[in-house]
Amino acid sequence: MTRPIPLRPAEPPAAPRHIGIIMDGNGRWANRRGQPRTAGHREGAEAVNRTVTACRERGVEVLTLYAFSAQNWARPETEVAALMQLLYDYVLGERASIMRQGIRLQAIGDVEQLPSFVRGPLRALEAESRHNHDMTLALALSYGSREELVRSARALAERVARGELDPADIDEAALGGGLDTAGWPDPDLIIRTGGERRLSNFLLWQAAYAELYFTPVAWPDFTPHDLDAAFAWFADRQRRFGLTGEQVEADVMERASC
Ligand code: IPE
Ligand code: IPE
Ligand code: MG
Repeated sequence: MTRPIPLRPAEPPAAPRHIGIIMDGNGRWANRRGQPRTAGHREGAEAVNRTVTACRERGVEVLTLYAFSAQNWARPETEVAALMQLLYDYVLGERASIMRQGIRLQAIGDVEQLPSFVRGPLRALEAESRHNHDMTLALALSYGSREELVRSARALAERVARGELDPADIDEAALGGGLDTAGWPDPDLIIRTGGERRLSNFLLWQAAYAELYFTPVAWPDFTPHDLDAAFAWFADRQRRFGLTGEQVEADVMERASC
């Protein structure tokens, strides 16, 4: 018996498994209030907490937060120092909450560049939370996507030089497998707060087919309500991955009739 063809696909569009967030707009948020930029970063930490909890509750598998870019080291020394202190406070202050929520914390980026007073507790929490399964929280720290790609390419070149790898075997899996995100699904949705519309060296390879959502809301003001608005927008996208819309619809119908 054939089923009637639904007007809308029977399956709701897949929820985002991996979300990346470019948490931007802290400095301008603070300046608008006549406060120093660091006040915006401090307030931004609260937005991190509520967003992490909300993503976990909504079944997100991986949440990658762009917290500090490789290029952010060039900011004024006092701002960098304040950010490092906030990171330290976050790792220590949220340790219990992260463990209670069953979240696995992992850092991506050139973590060795972080001062040791931050790196120590960060590595400890990564180790302590490694068996947690409810969500992976990836903190992009001293992270740059180009730098990450260079690291992966260099590791492959070293294997070729040692005679362990045939250049003909270098494929997407090999290059992608050398990135810090190896083994994770690619981001389905990238959110950037703060009004700018650019990726600023975030997950350039991994975001090949990500949906990009830009909101003027500054990061310190970002709430689960804003997250849901992004999810609703995402649910309305037709992800075609190079196919035609008709092909994608036919595929959805076929799966619905199985
Ligand atoms: C994002 O907010 C946080 C970091 C880059 C560490 P900004 O500090 O970039 O804030 P704006 O963009 O200057 O407002
Ligand atoms: C991107 O924001 C980095 C983080 C959010 C951590 P930036 O504020 O550094 O990006 P640009 O300089 O505006 O491109
Ligand atoms: Mg910014």
